[in-house]
Amino acid sequence: MSLKEKIDIGNLPQHVAVIMDGNGRWAKKKGNLRIFGHQNAITAVRETVEASAELGVKYLTLYAFSTENWSRPKYEVDALMQLLVSTIRKETETLNKNNIRLQSIGDLAALPQACRKQLEEAIEITSQNTRMTLVLALSYSGRWELVNVIQKLAAQVKAGELEPEAITEALVSGALTTAGIPDPELLIRTSGEQRISNFLLWQLAYTELYITDLLWPDFRKEHLYEAILAFQARERRFGKTSEQLQKAHS
Ligand code: IPE
Ligand code: IPE
Ligand code: MG
Repeated sequence: MSLKEKIDIGNLPQHVAVIMDGNGRWAKKKGNLRIFGHQNAITAVRETVEASAELGVKYLTLYAFSTENWSRPKYEVDALMQLLVSTIRKETETLNKNNIRLQSIGDLAALPQACRKQLEEAIEITSQNTRMTLVLALSYSGRWELVNVIQKLAAQVKAGELEPEAITEALVSGALTTAGIPDPELLIRTSGEQRISNFLLWQLAYTELYITDLLWPDFRKEHLYEAILAFQARERRFGKTSEQLQKAHS
């Protein structure tokens, strides 16, 4: 039986999020510049998108560039932005053919104009697609997002449009950049780092974490299958006891 066949399609995560990490180390190991690693990350992105859509995952969120990544050397930031523009340009048609919708979360105003334009175009072209939503986190961080939400809600309170007591978990969720998207059930991080790095701080509250030592440019469909199989072997208790869950299932 192949790894893919072992996956229980009835118990797929609806939303998978990925911290695509390790491009620089991958390139360095090969005696190359960090940028070489970013260039070679595209195959891994393509495979992950394809495999997720083929399985029936509904949302795939990829952490492509964090708020903190702006502090990298200018040449690396510029190369990443250029790579982003050229990749979106090349891949939009394939996304469209495969009925995949592109969406983006993050401070898009901070992106270079060309980048933003290419992204907005691709989002518009694919906006009617229904098979899977691919969410690119760009110039994104969880704290940036939460500060925005707090400012927005505080302004509504100040204007007399919102009572503080009316602020519920659902209201906060609905004010996030991921409004309408279910929280990820599975988070994959490559390169072995055991941290969240300011990713979806609110949304990851009960997400299953799967960390692999593999560096992102080496990530292939089989590795996604492995992650999903590991997810399916977990017991998600949400604070309850194992006995309570078993009783509910019997
Ligand atoms: C992930 O790889 C890509 C981005 C953060 C843009 P890195 O560039 O962080 O590679 P490492 O972690 O330094 O190896
Ligand atoms: C996280 O990777 C951000 C992205 C993958 C886009 P980093 O390489 O920036 O994370 P840290 O700095 O090692 O935590
Ligand atoms: Mg890194």
